[in-house]
Amino acid sequence: MFSGGVKRKSETLAVLDIGSSKVVCLIGQREPNFGVRLIGSGFGVSAGLKNGAVVDMEAAEHGIRTAVEKAERAAGVTVQGVAVNVALRSLRSQHMTVTTEFASGEVADRDLKRVLSSSLSELAQPEDAILHALPLNWSVDEESGIRDPRGMFGKSLGVDMHFVLAGVGPLRNLAHCIERCHLEITSVTVSPYAAGLAVLTEDETDLGVTVIDMGGGVTSAAIFRDNTLMHVDAIPVGGKNVTNDIARGLVTPSEAAERIKTIYGSALHGADDDEFMVPCPPMGAQDELHHQPRTLLTSIVRSRIEETLEILRDRITDSGMDAYAGRRIVLTGGACQLNGVRELAEYVFNKRVRIGRPHGVLGMRDALNGPDFAVATGLLKQGFSESAEVITGPPDLSGRRYRQKRYTGNSFGRSLQWLRENF
Ligand SMILES: Nc1ncnc2c1ncn2[C@@H]1O[C@H](COP(=O)(O)OP(=O)(O)OP(=O)(O)O)[C@@H](O)[C@H]1O
Ligand SMILES: [Mg+2]
Repeated sequence: MFSGGVKRKSETLAVLDIGSSKVVCLIGQREPNFGVRLIGSGFGVSAGLKNGAVVDMEAAEHGIRTAVEKAERAAGVTVQGVAVNVALRSLRSQHMTVTTEFASGEVADRDLKRVLSSSLSELAQPEDAILHALPLNWSVDEESGIRDPRGMFGKSLGVDMHFVLAGVGPLRNLAHCIERCHLEITSVTVSPYAAGLAVLTEDETDLGVTVIDMGGGVTSAAIFRDNTLMHVDAIPVGGKNVTNDIARGLVTPSEAAERIKTIYGSALHGADDDEFMVPCPPMGAQDELHHQPRTLLTSIVRSRIEETLEILRDRITDSGMDAYAGRRIVLTGGACQLNGVRELAEYVFNKRVRIGRPHGVLGMRDALNGPDFAVATGLLKQGFSESAEVITGPPDLSGRRYRQKRYTGNSFGRSLQWLRENF
């Protein structure tokens, strides 16, 4: 739940997946005894984003307006607030353990508040905004693995926090763009986290799993374990890079390369690749249609995707979080639909890999069941469920540190909100 009691009262919720290739707006309604039902959807072409960041305000605004207007018409409601996603290259996870002494002997709400509060003040990055703040684990007097420490006796209370951070600059541009559409951001969720909420099974999030969202301009990952988000990462490479590589390698326009990719493209070599000739439309009027062996196309596709997955794998290994990631990978995003990507991911990661399709929302038409709608579906599900987060609502983009703000009562109130919802 994004803003606690306020949002719980509202029966409809709009979400916006603003990607580098497409914008999706979904409007959902609370469904008694089930969760959420989709009542409207709309799409727009995303022309103003590059690698997840707004680079052309007007073009991005156009895509958002188109998607929202279509969804509003379908649902018969007017949208004011939207829950949005981000996948930016500046996305990063930070883990922190904070311990405080307490005097009373028995852990109470105020002790939890104090330790959560000091973790927020110790996070001293004014150039970053906190997108998610999740308590992973509590400890009392070195005894860790405690779910609810209240009522326990001891001298010190500790919490392991997971913060997801992103650069304030690109977030401000995104917020500005959404304001220009006369919409208000109710929350910001990182893409692979949202995707995970839509496609994972309970066993996967419990035992450990990595979600990799392969979009047009960004490939991002989220590691889930013990039903919590443990780690996120993102690299500014995606399906568009594959298309560009094809356009260059086969000397054909980008539009033709995109078509060639979806029709003939594969990340794995096939038996007849040497004989099969791929028709490549000419770059200019003076050139002619030419043919290239499919082997060449496959090599181009494979090397880009293999490299992307290897970079991500190495970053996860370097972060030390692979130990939590389990033996399974679930792929989402448009680019995972390319032939052979699943098998290539199994090879690169040496883990079981499946394609994740969104589930758990009523009224999803077949057209919305693909892995490229995982993020939007996840945002919708998240909007109608309880949050495990300390901070809810839109991130603070002022660039001021928590320490400077704590006396305003703002974030402090949010921590309390979390306590009320989680125990
Ligand atoms: N059937 C398909 N085969 C191969 N590639 C596909 C297919 N369908 C979509 N793609 C690719 O998926 C990419 C778009 O994926 P998606 O819609 O998830 O991106 P996005 O959310 O707009 O972008 P991002 O999340 O990176 O900001 C494009 O590069 C497109 O070429
Ligand atoms: Mg996306």
